[in-house]
Amino acid sequence: MRIPEVTAEGMAAVDLSEVNLFDPAFHAEQDPHTAWAFMREHAPLHRQELPDGRFFWSVTRYDDACRVLGNHQEFTSERGSLLNQLGHGEAAAGKMLVATDPPRHNELRRPLNKLFTGRGLARSEDRIREAVRALLAPSPDGGEWDLAQRATMLPMAVAGTLMDLPEPHWEDLVRWTGMAAAPDDPVFMIRNGHATLAIAHHELFKYFSEQYAARKGAEGDDAIGVLMTMRDGELTLEEVVVNCYSLLLGANATTPHTVAGTVLALLERPEQFRAVRENPALVPSLVEEGLRWTSPASSFLRHAVDDVELSGGVVPRGDAVAVWVGSANRDADVFPDPYRFDVAREANRHIAFGYGAHYCLGATVARITLRIFFEELLRTTEDITLAGEPRHLASNFVAGLTSLAVRVTPRRPETARGGHTETALSA
Ligand code: HEM
Repeated sequence: MRIPEVTAEGMAAVDLSEVNLFDPAFHAEQDPHTAWAFMREHAPLHRQELPDGRFFWSVTRYDDACRVLGNHQEFTSERGSLLNQLGHGEAAAGKMLVATDPPRHNELRRPLNKLFTGRGLARSEDRIREAVRALLAPSPDGGEWDLAQRATMLPMAVAGTLMDLPEPHWEDLVRWTGMAAAPDDPVFMIRNGHATLAIAHHELFKYFSEQYAARKGAEGDDAIGVLMTMRDGELTLEEVVVNCYSLLLGANATTPHTVAGTVLALLERPEQFRAVRENPALVPSLVEEGLRWTSPASSFLRHAVDDVELSGGVVPRGDAVAVWVGSANRDADVFPDPYRFDVAREANRHIAFGYGAHYCLGATVARITLRIFFEELLRTTEDITLAGEPRHLASNFVAGLTSLAVRVTPRRPETARGGHTETALSA
């Protein structure tokens, strides 16, 4: 998704009847950020109807976004949490973490929490650093390479390790999760969006069913083992499989876009890049600003359990509401000068990882991945330049890049090895 400066002239030109937030191509080719800025100001609760009669409400302000995502008594996740599911319902309601309301949600989530936040992550760190080094390695001919494409493999060092998935399977899994997250993007599409999604679901469900069968009776202490043995093995094959699917999709669909989008933001703002190069202690705040700026999980869906009043009106009971995360993360009431990418931004209360009970299970490990990526980027590169026009993902769910061609000047080995940067960062 393009992230332009939002200007008064741009806002004045917005005609909401022309804004189609449902259309994946709108997010790749047009300018949702200017439309969202207009909506925050003039239409904070906006109804969009599709040609087939389905409709949904959009919320764009930060406080409304937190309320819709965070209050399961008012807004349920059990009728689908993705805009693509509008009108289709949710077959995995009450089974898959993200499609389950509390209290059942807590029962499913509690056993996984430890693995995703505690010492379980220590063994992932080395794998992540290894994967980041491979990602940043110069291309064999010393020329340009595509950062967005290479970054797609990075989350497998996280999810692959946490789920104990064999490395030779990773490439297929990345392709299938890419198809599932953005079936309408030309990079992933096979025939059409529906067929692409169906193929991706078929392959991923078949894959995890086979993993289940192979592990039955000899479950490990990885995430799949935790799901299989949870509450004395209470979960059915289907419940284990949909949660494996959701875990992998959660990891693969998001982190690479924050990597590529944050690098693009730095390339477009040399003074900000210089600031982190000169002061690597800014890496943690760079990571938070990169998350706010890119907001790769772009929208989540909920359905109103009752009539609920939000800014701008009442959502009638039963209606679908889309929360636009990238818009909430640019609400000027919460983020001073929200269209400024600021590597030193303080009190950055972004909701890139969501809000409330469904707050991202992978947030800690995603932050570790991003921190390691930027540490290694600063440590091993002297200079990076853009080597082509970035290509944006066509999706109403994930905001990101499918191509970011770069030319990288590696740092001379003696500086990279013994340099101040490494000492400072690995302390
Ligand atoms: C930059 C990286 C990431 C971003 C921006 C992100 C964003 C989000 C958001 C916004 C939600 C809330 C969904 C909702 O409210 O319906 C969520 C949930 C979730 N994420 Fe992430 N995510 C990231 C990385 C990961 C990773 C690395 C994993 C797994 C290893 C993961 C697994 C999940 C799962 C399982 C849920 C559902 C949690 C629940 O329903 O309790 N995510 N994520």
